Amino acid sequence: MSYRIAVVVGSLRRDSYNKRLAQALKGLAPDEFEFEMVRIDDLPLYNQDDDAHPAPQVKRLKGEIANAQGVIFVTPEYNRSIPGVLKNAIDHASRPYGQSAWAGKPAGVIGMSGGAIGTALAQQHLRNILAYLDVPTLGQPEAFVQYKEGFFNADGSVGEASRKFLQTWMDRFADFVKHHADAVATA
Ligand code: FNR
Repeated sequence: MSYRIAVVVGSLRRDSYNKRLAQALKGLAPDEFEFEMVRIDDLPLYNQDDDAHPAPQVKRLKGEIANAQGVIFVTPEYNRSIPGVLKNAIDHASRPYGQSAWAGKPAGVIGMSGGAIGTALAQQHLRNILAYLDVPTLGQPEAFVQYKEGFFNADGSVGEASRKFLQTWMDRFADFVKHHADAVATA
């Protein structure tokens, strides 16, 4: 069986560390995992008036989440929470009421910043939102990743110092997704 993983990055910045981390994670995933980088930069601002007539970009987002067996959120921390662009995407795919694309999708939460707490507060806020949306999240290991010179190799892969930890994170996430997919298959 193969598994599609929708990867949602909370930064639109061209040289975003979190975008680079998301790309590097791909290289640590098992062969049967296929990563789809979800686009959120062209979504309109969420407006409940549009629920009955969602923009094509919103339909695309919801379709990508619906077709995935798992989701990875890779987020920076903005002012001790998640960036507005990420919340906007989450809100879009959660509506109309009763037609959320998120419900039941197993998710991993990870993020990178230059600060010592490495997005810990943003991730806690995100977990709060995901709990409400009925998204089961990988509990451990938590991954509060601090960017340092040499974190990434020249080819974009994770440098030696953090590779083992992130491989463990990915292995646990892969098991988590497979466990949920098995449970759905046998339900
Ligand atoms: C930040 N940054 C930041 N860092 C942090 O550790 N905690 C925080 O609360 C904030 N707040 C914050 C607010 C805003 C509006 C900006 C633009 C930045 C710094 C942030 O971690 C840094 O810009 C990262 O490089 C953002 O991630 P990307 O874009 O590199 O993926």
